[in-house]
Amino acid sequence: MEKKGKRIVSLVMMMLLFFIVIAANFQGCFSAASQTTIKGKSITPANDRGGSAVFPVTGNVYPAGHYSVILNIGNPPKAFDLDIDTGSDLTWVQCDAPCTGCTKPSDKLYNPKNNRVPCSSSLCQAVSTGQNYNCDTPADQCDYEVQYADLGSSLGVLLSDYFPLRLTNSSLLQPRIAFGCGYDQKYLGPHSPPDTAGILGLGRGKASILSQLRTLGITKNVVGHCFSRVEGGYLFFGDRLLPPSGITWTPMLRGSSDTLYSSGPAELLFGGKPTGIRALKLIFDSGSSYTYFNAQVYKSILDLVRKDLSGKPLKDAPKEKALPVCWKTAKPIKSIFDVKSFFKPLTINFTNAKNVKLQLAPEDYLILTKDGNVCLGILNGGEQGLENFNVIGDIFMQDRVVVYDNERQQIGWFSTNCNRLPKS
Ligand SMILES: *[C@@H]1O[C@H](CO)[C@@H](O)[C@H](O)[C@H]1NC(C)=O
Ligand SMILES: *[C@@H]1O[C@H](CO)[C@@H](O)[C@H](O)[C@H]1NC(C)=O
Repeated sequence: MEKKGKRIVSLVMMMLLFFIVIAANFQGCFSAASQTTIKGKSITPANDRGGSAVFPVTGNVYPAGHYSVILNIGNPPKAFDLDIDTGSDLTWVQCDAPCTGCTKPSDKLYNPKNNRVPCSSSLCQAVSTGQNYNCDTPADQCDYEVQYADLGSSLGVLLSDYFPLRLTNSSLLQPRIAFGCGYDQKYLGPHSPPDTAGILGLGRGKASILSQLRTLGITKNVVGHCFSRVEGGYLFFGDRLLPPSGITWTPMLRGSSDTLYSSGPAELLFGGKPTGIRALKLIFDSGSSYTYFNAQVYKSILDLVRKDLSGKPLKDAPKEKALPVCWKTAKPIKSIFDVKSFFKPLTINFTNAKNVKLQLAPEDYLILTKDGNVCLGILNGGEQGLENFNVIGDIFMQDRVVVYDNERQQIGWFSTNCNRLPKS
């Protein structure tokens, strides 16, 4: 119990982008494996290396603000566009329930059938954080509430249905996956509701679609994405598309969260030189467009960048939406590459191993706005209540493959062109 309590505290503190969970009912167990249907046969979740699946991605950091994929659910299948979120576990879609706060027309909502996951299932337990352990009878429906720092919250019921999946070896599988049918979405203040039908939760937890596919023996619990700086990219499940070498890996921190992909400690270098910013703990979160550092680190970075700009032809410019720090030149800037030389690269040096670095060129932390200004894509997490956390968002992950390997508990990356789908 005590452990659970601690976890909730850390979750609440985290509250960042696309981040998780509360309430629900549960107890007992849910044998997901017994529900697998693969072309009518069941497969054994044994030592098979597992398959892989690749999905084209749409979106960008700016102006879209998110990356999404289209997944089919049901039989006959219906397509849903989902925001890719490695910062939360539960996948959910807007629900035809009736629904409060749904943004899609009713023909784009998911229609629940008689497919509720009972509150006695372990997956129901996994989407709960201990706020509400009551399960009046084991057959009750599993209600959940997910909270996101930026979005607000979503209330729903846990269902299961087929997720038709084309593997890279051409097999078409029909695993049954538990997911949320969200019937009450509350959006936070000034934020506009997301324009996707739901969220694809790819966190470390048991409720994540990856954990479920792993339990079913379909793919390894490995997920990766390649987000293009310009538009789109791809997402993959499983490890078959990974090159045998050339990936930089850093271990996931154990015990920090059941959901979040955290890593570290790391130090920050600016222009290749130490900044004195050390011992950073970092969370890789694809549900966050920008990168957030705690207030103190943020201020240090801002000072370094500003100091470095003195005497250069960049002047302060008005803020752009979520981006408070912007610059302009005499003429509108046409490309980041026109001003790139005025900014130094940032490097995140993971100090728990040799040569584990995330190299960030200026275009990896700057945004070119529609007005032709450049803005800092690094934000003050302190203003979001993220005092103890630093979140690496999409902007730092552009034009590289980022891999979350839950089998080996490590996070990896390598630079590549994300506009080209990998050969399988
Ligand atoms: C493809 O991979 C899946 C999962 O590993 C396996 O069950 C299936 O038999 C494979 N299909 C072919 C045609 O090899
Ligand atoms: C990065 O960290 C490693 C491991 O602590 C250290 O040996 C190395 O000097 C650091 N690199 C730089 C450029 O500071």
